[in-house]
Amino acid sequence: MFEHIQAAPADPILGLNDAYKSDLNPNKINLGVGVYKDEQGNTPILKAVKQAEERLLTQEKTKSYLSIEGAPAYRSAVQKLLFGNDHNIINKQLAQTAHTPGGTGALRVAAEFIKKHLPEATIWVSNPTWANHQSVFQSVGLEVGSYAYYDAKNKSLDFEAMLASLSQIPEGDVVLFHGCCHNPTGIDPTPEQWYQLAKLSSKQGFLPLFDFAYQGFGQSLNDDAKGLRTFLEHVPEMLIANSFSKNFGLYNERVGALTIICETAEQAETAFTQVKRCIRTNYSNPPSHGSAIVAEILNDPELYALWESELKDMRIRIHEMRSLFVNTLRVKGVSQDFSFISQQQGMFSFSGLTPDQVTQLRKDYGIYIVGSGRISVAGLTHDNMEPLCSAIAEILNN
Ligand code: LMR
Repeated sequence: MFEHIQAAPADPILGLNDAYKSDLNPNKINLGVGVYKDEQGNTPILKAVKQAEERLLTQEKTKSYLSIEGAPAYRSAVQKLLFGNDHNIINKQLAQTAHTPGGTGALRVAAEFIKKHLPEATIWVSNPTWANHQSVFQSVGLEVGSYAYYDAKNKSLDFEAMLASLSQIPEGDVVLFHGCCHNPTGIDPTPEQWYQLAKLSSKQGFLPLFDFAYQGFGQSLNDDAKGLRTFLEHVPEMLIANSFSKNFGLYNERVGALTIICETAEQAETAFTQVKRCIRTNYSNPPSHGSAIVAEILNDPELYALWESELKDMRIRIHEMRSLFVNTLRVKGVSQDFSFISQQQGMFSFSGLTPDQVTQLRKDYGIYIVGSGRISVAGLTHDNMEPLCSAIAEILNN
């Protein structure tokens, strides 16, 4: 029965992680998967998370099922974080949120919902985009197209080309936007550009789907939500897939959410029954622990303040690593201008290294970065900076 099955290609990000783990090179460096590391190279459990878990341990009374959409305290906390307290959308109950297993789970539920209820829709993703986007949407049979985004020559956003591509997208199609900290380029639209994109979305009539996985890793929790909130002023319907893997460091707890916004509360309630149907026929209902941690923190002013300061520390450390990276490359004699790396935001930097150079880094130096040249700057430390920059300098100067 199974003998005809061919091996699937390794996942471009998680497959690389597996290759890293089995590499025997004692000096290996993992800058592939987007996971935050502290100066010691560890991925810490945040203090706010530990404190919330201690409370949960004494307060939790049951392991009975959550409902299909997850716990009420979590669902409402997610909306406040996305939209800001007292937003119109919340007061008028125009949004419904389901707890999903991570941001990927949210995207997959969104994909199934789109395929079932907007079967003719094509979904458009930026070029480039997160290596898993296309596969998630194609796995439910959706057509996937791409719109212009990155200007490889100038290492910047090609906003004119982006507007030109999006102007071709017809009413009823779906366009995926990265809410902030674009993965893989680290380059986001400015507030003025978000405004233009929101106006265009309203004019064209395509449905925006926001993938919002890095809130708080760019400028701040509120600043990073500006693009999303600008869209809310111009378009009545939207889907948002958000993740708490990175900003709470809850990678293996799989905590995310899918939010649907409709023109009226009744429509939101009705459409949400179909979102729940997609969930019920997939994983039935979500796992509780991670969402209980997030709800405990977001709903408690003291824990919230602690979390926000820990998030700020992570953000500042990444910014510092960007500058150090640019400076160390210069010190190592790299003449190419890498200063664009300090302008990018979030966990990733699109280095401009070619696939051959990426392979050489892995084979000759045990340094793992994604094939597209994406470096997880959140994994840089003072310790691994020297060997990384020396290796890049040797490759570029030979
Ligand atoms: C990444 O892009 O490295 C992260 O979002 C992890 C993943 O699942 O790919």
